[in-house]
Amino acid sequence: MTATLPVITDTIRFHVNGQPVEVDAPGGRRLLDVLRVDLGLTGTKEGCGEGECGACSVLLDGVLVNACLVPLAQVDGRDVLTVEGLADDGRLDPLQQAFLELGGTQCGFCAPAMLLAARAFLATGHAATEPAIREAIAGNLCRCTGYTKIVEAIAAAGAGPPTVAGGAAASAATGAWPDPRPPAAVIDVADRAAPRVVRPSSLYDALARLAADPALRPIAGGTDVMVELAAGVASPSRPLLDVWDLDELRLIDVEHDELILGALTTYGDLRRSAVVHGALPVLAEVAASVGAAQIQNRGTIGGNCMTASPAADMAPVLLATDARFEIAGPHGTRIVPADAFWPGYRRTAVGPGELLVAVRVPLVPGRHVRVRKVGTRRAQSIAKTSIALAWRTAPERHGAWHDVRVALGSVAPTPIRARRTEAVLEGTTPAPDVADRAAHAVRDEISPIDDVRSTATYRREATARVLRRIVLDAAG
Ligand code: FES
Ligand code: FES
Repeated sequence: MTATLPVITDTIRFHVNGQPVEVDAPGGRRLLDVLRVDLGLTGTKEGCGEGECGACSVLLDGVLVNACLVPLAQVDGRDVLTVEGLADDGRLDPLQQAFLELGGTQCGFCAPAMLLAARAFLATGHAATEPAIREAIAGNLCRCTGYTKIVEAIAAAGAGPPTVAGGAAASAATGAWPDPRPPAAVIDVADRAAPRVVRPSSLYDALARLAADPALRPIAGGTDVMVELAAGVASPSRPLLDVWDLDELRLIDVEHDELILGALTTYGDLRRSAVVHGALPVLAEVAASVGAAQIQNRGTIGGNCMTASPAADMAPVLLATDARFEIAGPHGTRIVPADAFWPGYRRTAVGPGELLVAVRVPLVPGRHVRVRKVGTRRAQSIAKTSIALAWRTAPERHGAWHDVRVALGSVAPTPIRARRTEAVLEGTTPAPDVADRAAHAVRDEISPIDDVRSTATYRREATARVLRRIVLDAAG
């Protein structure tokens, strides 16, 4: 007879809709399950369970997130707002009222999460124009054509008094721990499908814990790890190392002609950062094409690079700009250039006991960078092919390109540089015949595969056509 191992749980205390609660469960249990199953707050819905549909959206400290991708451990000491917390003593919140009056409720399944996405958007204070509203709720799928009414309702609510990120009930929260009030609910769950979570207090502590237990798997925003766990691709018996709260990894700065991006820099941070817009705005452009608000609030540059997906959104632009990866380990830090960071399919240069801590992008005078991603839709899709093209010009070279970089995603087992194509472009001045030669070269150079997202032929042709277009555009 085999003994059943005990489930290791943590005691996590947080506020839900202004009330303190205490949950004893493995730290990797999904916030969505805690809300729906443990606390009975079924207004938060489960659609896809993998960060695509937005039906599980809630506000975490005022930030819109998908509850299916948030591990319980990351809710410790924080405020969660669900749709149940919007009304105040049975009196509807102005957003709910607008949804009701203007027919925005539609199927009802999506409405709770739409309300929370709208709440997060209105709290930013941005003008509630139709394009802005549509972008704000783009991570909440609606298949019933209900968007028009929903957009109208959000616009109407946006025309009213200013909105705060918390709900009426949430405003009762103290916002700080320890909360002197007794918990409104105390829950104990032995969830065997959820991993244990180790929470280090600093980078130093994280490295020490990794050294002690090399099986620990780092987790940041959870946009990949939580999906793999839900899909059964990752095993719950492998404990997680939660790095989300390590502030040392959360910075954006320029130092010695390098843009330094801490590994925990989110896509949202990249989009909003004045430093990024000043130094290398193409990074904000790439970030804007990754997922919707819920994913941009949680997905990090470090996580995207560490998944080592051939389709990783940040990889081509980092290859094209000669980024350097700063890796910390038991013996200090080392730097790995981007073209050595992905040595094989789903592999990175980060070894056992090491953590990616920052990405450093050299800021080079006279450099131009263009990016294009071909997916099934303009944003929020996994790339069928993606290109980053970088080149430099200098007055003494009379417009001729030099230091050309052609970096590609989704056309090989890893993100790659197309060096033969780079050689074709090096030293040229952009013109239609140069564009044709570059397209021809890249078509010959890559060997993409057929998979569920695209065919090899499409990838090869699309890559060639997009490269040709970028060169033609540069030629004016
Ligand atoms: Fe679809 Fe969470 S259930 S995003
Ligand atoms: Fe639910 Fe449109 S509001 S599908």
